[in-house]
Amino acid sequence: MKYSLTLVAVSLAMVLPAAAGQQNAVPSTPKSIADGGSAYNRSCASCHGKSGTGDGPASKQLNPKPSNLVDAEWTHGTSDSEIFAVIRSGVPKTAMKGFASKMTERETWDIINYLRSVGPAPVK
Ligand code: HEC
Repeated sequence: MKYSLTLVAVSLAMVLPAAAGQQNAVPSTPKSIADGGSAYNRSCASCHGKSGTGDGPASKQLNPKPSNLVDAEWTHGTSDSEIFAVIRSGVPKTAMKGFASKMTERETWDIINYLRSVGPAPVK
């Protein structure tokens, strides 16, 4: 009995993060990834670089530097929903401005699908 209760607790703990909305709202289809790639090149590559490593032409003057978006390191959160929040709201006191008024939520999820497709798989 005790054993099965533990099992229930463990499986709940695994389900809850997904329930909290950590999943990308837009399925990672080839179209979503392609749309995300164009939106990325348009809005993000000047700072984060064409390949996402943080070395875009505008990065030289910036402090802090634009993050590498294709390594496994996420200073502001690893989950899709945390990355979504950073792109929508920006990072205070840095050149990373929020894009909430500049693109739709769908485009933002497309960009995340694109970044996931070129970067390492997220640590679950
Ligand atoms: C004007 C330059 C600039 C542009 C344009 C820009 N960023 Fe950023 N971005 C930054 C900087 C600088 C940081 C680092 C903030 C820090 O160190 O806390 C950052 C951080 C981030 C982070 C957090 C990374 C982490 O490690 O947690 C994400 C995600 C991100 N940017 C995505 C984007 C996306 C997607 C776009 C395009 C829609 C974009 N950025 C456009 C400058 C920019």
